[in-house]
Amino acid sequence: GNGRFIVGGNWKCNGTRASVKTLIEELNAGELRDVDVVVAPPFLFLDEATETLKAPYEVAAQNCWVEPGLVDPTHHYDSDTGAFTGEVSAEMLEDLRIPWVILGHSERRNLFNESNEFVGKKVAHARFHGLSVIVCVGETLEERESGKTMDVIFAQLKAVATEIDDKEHSSWGSQVVIAYEPIWAIGTGKVATPEQVQDVHAKIRQWLADNVSEEVAKATRIQYGGSVNAGNCSELARLSDIDGFLVGGASLKGDDFVKICNTSA
Ligand code: G3H
Repeated sequence: GNGRFIVGGNWKCNGTRASVKTLIEELNAGELRDVDVVVAPPFLFLDEATETLKAPYEVAAQNCWVEPGLVDPTHHYDSDTGAFTGEVSAEMLEDLRIPWVILGHSERRNLFNESNEFVGKKVAHARFHGLSVIVCVGETLEERESGKTMDVIFAQLKAVATEIDDKEHSSWGSQVVIAYEPIWAIGTGKVATPEQVQDVHAKIRQWLADNVSEEVAKATRIQYGGSVNAGNCSELARLSDIDGFLVGGASLKGDDFVKICNTSA
């Protein structure tokens, strides 16, 4: 792997006041080794997570807003606040000192029709507000079976790279993490094989070398997400181009999640 192992816990739209309290207690009781861990609760629980999760846990939002019509998202100071009922802006996350945001999750892309271009703008705008980003990419089963996996992923990456200006590229390594999540592996219990994951991760890294820079390609951490659990994580963590995981279901169980976080150590 390249850089420090990084594990994300995406709680998605799960949790009650009581379950969140218990989960945070379990996480705080776990002993983390040499690893970055980013926990993403629903918006309503971000503040509580920020207040109560102990270091080294960091907190992420699962999404944030930018006006889709924005021409240059990196140069607008206040364009994401305003008449956007129900949305939460990158500025608000910055103001609340939420350090991370997950963008372009396949559930956002598919259920809420977020285009590659829109995700690219969101990433650039979030970076503009100083947020570190986990940007998700991945193919459907149909796309994989018709040999389009890398075309789909490269188009998703290109939309991000296009929006971020050159100055930002040097910070990709520490502050932009790519999560490869094959859609057919998300929440299905059907984890991708180590060969499939290594193959895609190596190609993502090569794409970064060819289209951004060698430096960024080396420094960028690439997570795998899709039915990762405490039982299958060790085998995956051994692969040379896997720098972490983005965990959904298993991140709701404190003990399992801590185990997954400690895989690489
Ligand atoms: O963001 C997390 C992924 O969508 C993976 O979810 O671990 O429940 O398959 P999962």
